[in-house]
Amino acid sequence: MQTALTDLLGIEHPVMLAGMGGVSYAPLVTAVSEAGGFGCLGASTMGTDEMGAEMRAVRAATDKPFGVDLLTAATADLTPAVRRIIEGGASVFVAGLGVPRDVVELCHSRGVLVVNMCGKVRHAVLAVEAGCDIVVAQGTEAGGHTGQVATMALVPQVVDAVGDRVPVVAAGGIFDGRGLAAALALGAAGVWVGTRFIATPEARAVPGYKDTLLVTGEDGTTISRAYTGKTCRVIRNPYTQYFDDHPTELQPFPAQIRRSSADNAFHLGAPSDAEGIDPTKEFFPAGQGVGAIDELVGAAELVRRFVDEAEAALAAISSRVAL
Ligand SMILES: Cc1cc2nc3c(=O)[nH]c(=O)nc-3n(C[C@H](O)[C@H](O)[C@H](O)COP(=O)(O)O)c2cc1C
Repeated sequence: MQTALTDLLGIEHPVMLAGMGGVSYAPLVTAVSEAGGFGCLGASTMGTDEMGAEMRAVRAATDKPFGVDLLTAATADLTPAVRRIIEGGASVFVAGLGVPRDVVELCHSRGVLVVNMCGKVRHAVLAVEAGCDIVVAQGTEAGGHTGQVATMALVPQVVDAVGDRVPVVAAGGIFDGRGLAAALALGAAGVWVGTRFIATPEARAVPGYKDTLLVTGEDGTTISRAYTGKTCRVIRNPYTQYFDDHPTELQPFPAQIRRSSADNAFHLGAPSDAEGIDPTKEFFPAGQGVGAIDELVGAAELVRRFVDEAEAALAAISSRVAL
């Protein structure tokens, strides 16, 4: 399945692993890239040395392309981290929050592509004007920090605004090949998938996270500022309810992270065998597609399923719809 995205990234399938902080570490990134998708490390929860070690681990396991995602709003000067990303052999830098104007030229001078996460048309236009090479249009259905516009409405409007200049990738609530087929129909050149890849054996996740995803329905998430101070789609629980009931206690980003950590509710990025996690109040970012997840599936198998199901979905349209 070849698109403008697969051509630009040098990959086989238009399926990108979201650079999820606390989840997308070397084993998951390697599995997705080796399967012909695009693996992306989620470095927002990593120190610089840890990020370097994760990049070396990916490089040792595969020579396929991979990327690194940083939450740009969390870092004042991106240049040192981006230099490490370039030196580590990544072919793509993904800016998670905000347009990374200051580092676009640096990345391009070293042959590294810049991707920007966007929740609004205006963000996508600014990103492309700043020189970004790919935009991810992320709808509100998405797990993690998210905006208010739904994927179905956002993607075609971003495609109309910038799709003639850069590939647009759809994100938010996409969990199988039907979502990939729909994204292609909306004009996207591929998908950026988060939550579905958490429920894989390769993903890092604190105890209770994957189990919670398996039993949560499509209405079991909420957008809350309880964990980071920014609007974040997470599994709804008594902790998110507390801040719904006491909104004046919320601190702005990133101060609220100190509060949720002190409350023993924030362990994103902790090892899979971390102790003392209370799943009834823990920070479990998840998108609305969570209701469709009822088993762990290997990451490579997931990439294959996305492509096979998308091809089947596209073929099935012509048998179901008389044109
Ligand atoms: C656990 C988790 C952590 C995330 N961390 C980041 C991050 O550090 N940077 C970023 O750009 N996006 C982050 N996101 C958002 C994803 O990149 C992606 O846009 C989102 O997961 C797509 O929606 P989906 O979860 O419905 O597939 C995160 C999402 C999840 C679920």
